[in-house]
Amino acid sequence: MGNIVVTGGAGFIGSNFVHHLLAHTTHDVTVLDALTYASNTASLDGADESRMHLVVGSVADADLVDSLVAKADAVVHFAAESHNDNSLDDPSPFIETNVTGTFVLLEAVRRHHTRYHHVSTDEVYGDLALDDPHRFTEATAYNPSSPYSASKAASDHLVRAWVRSFGVEATLSNCSNNYGPRQHVEKFIPRQITNVIDGVRPKLYGAGLNVRDWIHVDDHNAAVLRILESGRIGETYLIGADGEKNNVSVIELILALMGQPTDAYDHVNDRAGHDLRYAIDSSKLRSELGWQPQFTSFEDGLADTIAWYRDNEAWWRPMKQATEAKYQKVGQ
Ligand code: NAD
Ligand code: DAU
Repeated sequence: MGNIVVTGGAGFIGSNFVHHLLAHTTHDVTVLDALTYASNTASLDGADESRMHLVVGSVADADLVDSLVAKADAVVHFAAESHNDNSLDDPSPFIETNVTGTFVLLEAVRRHHTRYHHVSTDEVYGDLALDDPHRFTEATAYNPSSPYSASKAASDHLVRAWVRSFGVEATLSNCSNNYGPRQHVEKFIPRQITNVIDGVRPKLYGAGLNVRDWIHVDDHNAAVLRILESGRIGETYLIGADGEKNNVSVIELILALMGQPTDAYDHVNDRAGHDLRYAIDSSKLRSELGWQPQFTSFEDGLADTIAWYRDNEAWWRPMKQATEAKYQKVGQ
């Protein structure tokens, strides 16, 4: 490969992927990002500018996408509207970016015979009961709950159809909840860390028994690169690190690591349609491609993440007030 287009490269996972690519490969990187509220160009600080350049624009802009894909050896598609709560407030940008944007990219990679990797989520499978012994696998039926997860499910179906009908050289991955540096403060873990830094009590939706399967963003990105390099065309790989935790226990751990009493949090309004539990079986990725997570201690990874937010207040401070104002309006 040579030039890789990374869509959404100014967002959380995409920016970490750009740093990962520059550190671990010799590829050049073109970031295509619309610079929505969720982006932060400071997330690309430190990237070698002789190998990375940023193009500001939308994945739904067919002419722009075509011009970039024409020069690319591969496309890794992270760009999305990514927050469930926002999708409950206004689904329309989720359809435009996640569905139409993916369609536009697929048409471009079809025209130019370009390798494509599609980054998706475990939420396409819906949720599991707390006591269900099964976890999601590549064979689990799609059953999305929110406008966000439905839009991601739609995008996955488009990719599968373009592989089968047009022979597009695509792979897909569906990953569980990521944590780590450079995640927007609207998301669960950074919201609570930055609340505690501000002397505000963490906010737990409902009873907080919902389970998420946490994975460090660097482990996710190492898996995406492995699939891009060695994955079988047309295949889906589930990415997960056996990190199931309920939300109460995550809040308690954040409080403990930040030197606060572990009960110093508030229960707030629950999310509509709130998925109960996600759990990933990543055996296929591990056995077929030899991937393994490197962050085996959630507590250590969380402590590093807390340190990052303490050390990088200038990165998150500008987005904090508007984020909290939005939550306050809906009692969260
Ligand atoms: P994010 O919200 O932090 O970043 C999304 C980026 O996409 C932003 O930089 C934004 O400006 C950009 N973007 C939005 N609309 C765009 C458009 N129309 N054109 C170009 N760029 C646009 O999201 P994230 O958490 O980094 O998620 C990245 C991808 O990974 C998404 O596809 C998401 O569905 C998937 N994913 C996320 C998680 C997670 O835990 N965060 C887990 C599994 C999969
Ligand atoms: O599973 C992968 C998905 O993980 C990705 O596809 C999404 O892009 C990503 O945002 C994430 O979705 P969640 O909805 O699981 O993440 P979020 O950080 O919004 O919430 C995690 C859990 O914490 C969820 O059960 C809701 C709860 N929560 C969230 C916030 C913001 C709270 O209890 N309090 C909060 O303040």
